[in-house]
Amino acid sequence: MKIVVIGGSGLIGKKLVSNLRQHGHEVVAGSPSTGVNTITGEGLSDTLAGAEVVVDVANAPVWEDKAVLEFFETSGRNLLAAEAAAGVGHHVALSVVGTERLLASGYFRAKMAQENLIKASKIPFTIVRATQFFEFVGGIAQFATEGATVRLPSALMQPIAADDVAAALADVAIAEPLNNTVELAGPEPIRMDELVRHFLSANRDPRKVITDVRALYYGVEVNDQSLTPGENPRFGPTRFEDWLSQSIPQK
Ligand SMILES: NC(=O)c1ccc[n+]([C@@H]2O[C@H](COP(=O)([O-])OP(=O)(O)OC[C@H]3O[C@@H](n4cnc5c(N)ncnc54)[C@H](OP(=O)(O)O)[C@@H]3O)[C@@H](O)[C@H]2O)c1
Repeated sequence: MKIVVIGGSGLIGKKLVSNLRQHGHEVVAGSPSTGVNTITGEGLSDTLAGAEVVVDVANAPVWEDKAVLEFFETSGRNLLAAEAAAGVGHHVALSVVGTERLLASGYFRAKMAQENLIKASKIPFTIVRATQFFEFVGGIAQFATEGATVRLPSALMQPIAADDVAAALADVAIAEPLNNTVELAGPEPIRMDELVRHFLSANRDPRKVITDVRALYYGVEVNDQSLTPGENPRFGPTRFEDWLSQSIPQK
């Protein structure tokens, strides 16, 4: 199969491209750095010619409310129109578990807009909603840092390794379209404050995590249901502890 991975140079994109190539598929990694731009339309029709499947794992370069909404709306419209013209038979997109519960954030309003465009298009689709990547935990800490402290709520999460997200996306990409949404989560629930505390201490980062029930997650009030999957998610096998011990440079 010819499969185009939009955002193929990103964290998930790179892993997905290599995964699909190992399965013997013809894979094209499309992103601005390879001359494929879903905002300007550059390179889209040439890249999509003959493609059976497109996986969209692009992310917006700027997360400010207006900019991120414009990115996912414009990118989604251009990509879906180009796919319709090329006769693509399956559009797969990566979104986030709990998107509809997190709409106080501009980023999640943009992800919701992306999902709605996909559902409104005539192209068969599968939306994969993943929980937060282990690789994103450092970013959560950074966003909540004030001086030497990191103020976070203790809401439950069920994060997942980027490798496991890429493996699940590869399975979805080569399967039939579901015209539905599937959820993907890590193997175990963990509280956000504990997760970040564990991550910082393993990295010998001196910042101190302060648990604060009123602290926001990227500007959004969260509870134990906000970021965790519903019934019957698919699970990635990698435990945070194991990922952490492999991701930290050994002395
Ligand atoms: N972070 C999380 O915990 C999490 C959880 C669940 C779902 N997700 C979703 O996962 C997806 C992928 O995230 P990621 O962390 O892998 O992203 P990333 O590493 O930031 O990579 C973003 C990719 O998007 C590409 N891109 C940017 N502008 C583009 C454009 N105009 N046209 C085509 N491609 C463009 C980039 O290409 P260049 O390198 O060429 O600029 C890059 O390949 C996102 O949609 C995100 O919402 C994230």
